[in-house]
Amino acid sequence: MGRVLVTHRLPEGGTDPLVVAGHEITDGFGDAACSSAELAELAPEFDAIVCLLTDPIDEEVLRSGASGRLKAVGNVAVGYNNIDVAAANRLGIPVCNTPGVLDETTADLAFLLVLSASRLAAVAGDDLRTGRWHGWGINQYLGRDVHGALLGLVGFGRIAQAVARRATGFGMTVLHHSRRPTGLDGNISALDELMELSDIVSLHVPLTDDTRHMIGTEQLELLGPQGVLVNTSRGPVVDEAALAAALHDGTIFAAGLDVYEQEPAIHPALLTAPRAVLLPHIGSASRETRTRMARLACQGVCEILAGREPDNLVRLTS
Ligand code: DGY
Repeated sequence: MGRVLVTHRLPEGGTDPLVVAGHEITDGFGDAACSSAELAELAPEFDAIVCLLTDPIDEEVLRSGASGRLKAVGNVAVGYNNIDVAAANRLGIPVCNTPGVLDETTADLAFLLVLSASRLAAVAGDDLRTGRWHGWGINQYLGRDVHGALLGLVGFGRIAQAVARRATGFGMTVLHHSRRPTGLDGNISALDELMELSDIVSLHVPLTDDTRHMIGTEQLELLGPQGVLVNTSRGPVVDEAALAAALHDGTIFAAGLDVYEQEPAIHPALLTAPRAVLLPHIGSASRETRTRMARLACQGVCEILAGREPDNLVRLTS
């Protein structure tokens, strides 16, 4: 059986597949962050690494692992921009992730941000807690209606589709834009057109060279002064400085964010931006979902170590 480095403490039961398969588990860093250099030092001693989205599994780590016994990497996340998958492929180290098991939980949170940002719920709640609310007023906290609004989804994978199902219940019109035409109703081939048509835009694309800063000043201007932007995908998809400026100067109405360009650092201008709902990357954070994610990543690693191809193998698409 193999030796598996589990970089961080996982939810209870998360490593069950490794235990059942009889692999030897080594706990890495508990709840503390780890660097690429630290991972590179450990990597050659293990048959597999089960890691988190905060772990930099870069070429240095993979090369070091490949010089020893590393045969698999399991990422406890659906997004895998923390892993140099191209390098892993070159070195013959399969990578797996956690597709499918977090869609509904992440869509719940995206919709929470749609509602909270549009209706200024977090902003109004903060005022109440900090003594800035002095009683009901007819002109206070006038948000944007969510029911009946036009929701633009950027990316139309499983999570976006789960958001679309929620939007239907609110009587929203839903359009989507994705890199390749989906052939489905509501497909808008140009991102700028989607930004211009939408009342609320929610982002659901992976972070790649193509999607980095795909939302910048120009797109925010198209969304316009009544528009709301929600991001539960990856922070660098949005130019954070441009977004903060757009909130400060009223180019858009509000934003709901769960992800940031330099987590855990937040752009200082975002922290002071009006009508910004800011959450600390909790899209998939329910006990059930995080446990399912941990198990799926561990299960994928077990499959790879047993010489099988797991369903959750990461395949690079061009
Ligand atoms: C993921 O799996 O990529 C999510 O960001 C985790 O919350």
